[in-house]
Amino acid sequence: MSLQSEILRRRTFAIISHPDAGKTTLTEKLLLFGGAIHVAGAVKSNKIKKTATSDWMEIEKQRGISVATSVMGFEYRDYKINILDTPGHQDFAEDTYRTLTAVDSVIIVVDTAKGVEAQTRKLMEVCRMRNTPVMIFVNKMDREGKDAFDLLDELEAELGIAVRPLSWPINQGFSFKGVYNIYKENLQLFTPNKQSIGESVAFSDINSPELEKYVGEHNAVKLREDMELINGVYSEFDNEKYLAGQLAPVFFGSALNNFGVKELLDCFVEIAPSPRPIQSQEREVNPFEEAFSGFIFKIHANMDPNHRSCIAFVKICSGKFERNVNYKHIRHGKMMRFSSPTAFMAQKKETVDEAYAGDIVGLPDTGNFKIGDTLTGGENLHFKGIPSFSPEMFKYIENADPMKTKQLDKGINQLMDEGVAQLFTNQYNGRKIIGTVGQLQFEVIQYRLLHEYNAQCRWEPISLYKACWIESDDATELDNFKKRKAQYMAKDKEGRDVFLADSGYVLQMAQNDFKNIRFHFASEF
Ligand code: G4P
Repeated sequence: MSLQSEILRRRTFAIISHPDAGKTTLTEKLLLFGGAIHVAGAVKSNKIKKTATSDWMEIEKQRGISVATSVMGFEYRDYKINILDTPGHQDFAEDTYRTLTAVDSVIIVVDTAKGVEAQTRKLMEVCRMRNTPVMIFVNKMDREGKDAFDLLDELEAELGIAVRPLSWPINQGFSFKGVYNIYKENLQLFTPNKQSIGESVAFSDINSPELEKYVGEHNAVKLREDMELINGVYSEFDNEKYLAGQLAPVFFGSALNNFGVKELLDCFVEIAPSPRPIQSQEREVNPFEEAFSGFIFKIHANMDPNHRSCIAFVKICSGKFERNVNYKHIRHGKMMRFSSPTAFMAQKKETVDEAYAGDIVGLPDTGNFKIGDTLTGGENLHFKGIPSFSPEMFKYIENADPMKTKQLDKGINQLMDEGVAQLFTNQYNGRKIIGTVGQLQFEVIQYRLLHEYNAQCRWEPISLYKACWIESDDATELDNFKKRKAQYMAKDKEGRDVFLADSGYVLQMAQNDFKNIRFHFASEF
């Protein structure tokens, strides 16, 4: 197969949701279709239980299993599918944000009863920043939930994207009869059975009296009315708008009952984008270019404290990656060869000889890589687009064992390179501040510093509202600002200026008083 056809048949995406909406269940059903797993329940072990917030050891154990399931590759029809796993626990949201930089599209799972939840909203913001095409799966139709039209309005309003239903539910909860697949014009009948795919009946004309036979008179009338309304309110599905990230097709179903999942997958492989051009600092890189290029979006630490080795995950942006070929590590300016790159097929990690744009390969690493690093066939490229977001929790990190200062510094630096959390150094007093998305990350850092670096840290409270990156074209004003706010100025690990606002009010005042300074809440601007 030519390079072009290999790349065109790739679909690399992530499934995102608020915890409990059904991401794990849906992932598992997709893997069943791809023949990647044969029994339900196989993915569950990867899931970090929501109840285990305080039980870090338990999470560590579960995280150990997740290397193999970080990327789930499988073949379906003529397509090569790569599902990138995102951690369910919201304290690891930063990990999810980064994973979203390595996908070409996204499926969002929404619980029909709960609608759009906090985490969904946040993740959608990231998708919007990058114009990532999104498809929505409304899950748990076997339960009572919101009215489908209300839900569509909510999706539009809360997610800030136009929607277009491509399937439509016939009733819900106990009376759930199935869905009408608008995209393929057929009727999917629901039988509450966890493994069956459901009966499918071709139905291009829902006005045919046959409909009554399948769903009963009341439901048939309702479906016709609904379809009339849908066609009146929503314009035809426009694939270009979907690809531009402006329109989200919506499917309804029940992941647990394996219902509506195949329809979602079949439509997904047909309309979702193959790898797209990626912007580097130097130029736009087209996936079909012969020369290999890629970037590291995730580093997975080894769970064995005796071997401080990691797996660096590379998203291939262009061309073909080959085993034992020399590639250039741009930041180090040196050539590297990889004798045992791994790919992730059918839940198994295996050594690969080649991989194509869109694929993810894992490179065993002993500290050469950090998140955002670029690898190429030789050209000097730097891929953009791995943003850090303004953290939500802050603590001073202090050395608790003066004999181990070096170990602590090294540990902190490496963990930050891995993207475990963000480090800010206060320019006024030199103290180090760690910013995270959730409490759990502090526990992870403390535990890993001790077990992997033999260093002990202590946390001290700091009252901060936000850390924001600042820049300005007006050097005098920037200088003025830094002097006025000297106590609140910090540098991030790349040396960029960060303003530490201790309250919303202070931040607002600063924004009012310094009109020529731009305040950014993500590190990419
Ligand atoms: P998550 O990864 O998004 O956090 O969600 P997950 O798939 O784990 O699903 C959360 C809960 O919702 C699970 O129940 C799961 O069985 C249930 N669920 C998923 N899809 C459906 C559906 O279509 N209908 C119904 N009724 N329930 C669904 P749990 O009790 O938390 O877990 P478990 O003990 O069943 O594994």
